[in-house]
Amino acid sequence: MKTAIVTGATGFIGSRLALKLLKQGWIVHVLGRSKNSTSFETRIFHAIDDITGVPENRALFKNLFCHDVDICNPRLEMQNLIHSHHFDSETLLFHVAGDTRFNPPSPEMQHNINVSGPLNIIKAFHNHLSKVVHVSTAYVAGKRKGKILEGELDEGQEHRNNYEKSKLSAEVEVTKLCEQLQLPLCITRPSIIINDSVTGRSPTLTHFNALVYVVTRIQKHFKNDKNVNPSKEFRMPIDPTARPNLAPVNPIVDALIKVGTESTAPCKTYHLCHPHPQSNYEIVKLMAQAFGIQDFINLSFVYKFPEKFSYTEEMMLRSLKQYLPYLNEYCEFDVTNTRSIIPDYDSTFPVITPDYLDKVIYYQRHRQLRESHH
Ligand SMILES: NC(=O)c1ccc[n+]([C@@H]2O[C@H](COP(=O)([O-])OP(=O)(O)OC[C@H]3O[C@@H](n4cnc5c(N)ncnc54)[C@H](OP(=O)(O)O)[C@@H]3O)[C@@H](O)[C@H]2O)c1
Repeated sequence: MKTAIVTGATGFIGSRLALKLLKQGWIVHVLGRSKNSTSFETRIFHAIDDITGVPENRALFKNLFCHDVDICNPRLEMQNLIHSHHFDSETLLFHVAGDTRFNPPSPEMQHNINVSGPLNIIKAFHNHLSKVVHVSTAYVAGKRKGKILEGELDEGQEHRNNYEKSKLSAEVEVTKLCEQLQLPLCITRPSIIINDSVTGRSPTLTHFNALVYVVTRIQKHFKNDKNVNPSKEFRMPIDPTARPNLAPVNPIVDALIKVGTESTAPCKTYHLCHPHPQSNYEIVKLMAQAFGIQDFINLSFVYKFPEKFSYTEEMMLRSLKQYLPYLNEYCEFDVTNTRSIIPDYDSTFPVITPDYLDKVIYYQRHRQLRESHH
């Protein structure tokens, strides 16, 4: 049986990757941590069950091995782990874990997780690994414009935040270490991951979940709240022609597995990005249509807000704050390497439709309701 180690399996991408590998018959070792007195194993089960909202068949978990390991502080724990389990020399490492906050309270801690974390894991396990699949981000490209090639990394670009910088350093350091250890390495660079294209689900605040949150609040205020005065004029500080690269999580997870398992996949970098992203204009119109608010508000696009903005706009700005810098996207991520090992890559990405957005809205609203009851 094929064996994989997956880090970050309590997270958005890692949980789906671990489940998919288990369903394909892999032995999966997941490394992560207990939190707030909930064991790591319980956290993994919750994360996996949340993927569809229905508990997975527990028989599937017979090949899942959970190891309580903080990737920043691993030395002793990992030594014990390696001695207590049989890892053959053909184990595939998917390093997915990361601190994804754009501006974390402690950049040093983020550096420790994003850069030292993968180095710790690779150093501890290298004798057992046949290959490393390192999950980076397409935004190591920072604020570059135009076509970004997969082979490019440090082109002297400016970055938007610490997250991007730490992911670039991680690519550099992981590459150096794997070269030193003569360990095959594939670097994967997803763009902005959004809700599953089949179910509309996602456990984290994606760009779309944030939009649903904003519009739901706007609708609520229009209908119920007498104390606020929302405006019917609704300006979005984005360029309607820009094309943010939003990629549903499911084709990304499939592509990650392909990069890991395809014997012909050379040790290169793979952009896991939407090959034909839709424009802001299309996305916002579809969103307005899905919400039935097209005639409800006057939607317009502005380059930048003037000093004064309405209550509605202020609310929108606050909710979308973390994604706004990524919505005016003037670059195109080349996917030549990815297409070379996944010939049908482009067809795995559906276009965004009102039907998909309906599912996102349904899921996000129920999540908000659940959270407000807790
Ligand atoms: N989501 C995106 O839009 C996107 C786009 C491009 C690239 N990526 C990359 O994809 C990877 C996964 O992203 P995601 O969206 O799935 O993130 P996520 O949902 O925030 O999950 C992050 C995972 O990393 C784990 N982790 C963080 N610090 C750790 C530590 N010290 N020890 C052990 N585990 C630790 C977390 O564990 P806990 O649950 O214990 O915190 C969690 O399982 C990241 O490397 C990110 O840079 C994500």
